[in-house]
Amino acid sequence: MVRMKVLAIPGSLRRGSFNRALALNARDLAPNGIEVEIFDLEGIPPFNQDLENAPPERVVALKEKVRSADALLFCTPEYNYSVPGVLKNAIDWASRPFEESPFEGKPVAIAGASTGSMGTSRAQYHLRQICVGLGMHALVYPELFVPNAEKKFGADGKIADARTREKLVELLEALRELAEKLGCGNAPDGRG
Ligand SMILES: Cc1cc2nc3c(=O)[nH]c(=O)nc-3n(C[C@H](O)[C@H](O)[C@H](O)COP(=O)(O)O)c2cc1C
Repeated sequence: MVRMKVLAIPGSLRRGSFNRALALNARDLAPNGIEVEIFDLEGIPPFNQDLENAPPERVVALKEKVRSADALLFCTPEYNYSVPGVLKNAIDWASRPFEESPFEGKPVAIAGASTGSMGTSRAQYHLRQICVGLGMHALVYPELFVPNAEKKFGADGKIADARTREKLVELLEALRELAEKLGCGNAPDGRG
């Protein structure tokens, strides 16, 4: 079984974000050998292509973290049936310049929590399309949609729903299997 380092990227800046909570739960529930680090998108300015060859410091940090991760976990909210601008904006920055994109070939799992009844499914399918454009390998199954998020998390930010916790662990296990198939991970410290 490979060891792997996962970079989890929540697509919300909100203080009480359910998607950041989802990423933190992934970190806390990660099975042995899977290390989850969170990257907060705070401080990433709106994309400007004039600056793509000399991006802001926070973008440089994001690109380095993506590059050194064995796999990614996007925890996306759903805004108006799609991916929040904050997340799309960060992906756009990190993907440039095109020949230096750290996303190419990266295994990625997608999850999301929303207060709506569809649990970010529509946003997740848009995000999958973005992953295709960037040459990432998005895990097909399992899918993790967390609807009615206000009922699924406790006041402490921990997932209160046992089945959601199980599904999050299953997602990480499946991401490890995908990373293994793709030859990512397996160094003693979890780096590929
Ligand atoms: C601009 C905006 C648009 C939204 N659109 C949707 C939507 O299309 N579907 C949905 O389920 N929830 C929608 N919501 C509600 C979000 O699911 C809810 O605010 C969620 O808590 C956001 O994620 P976060 O907790 O990680 O910040 C929307 C919220 C905002 C602010």
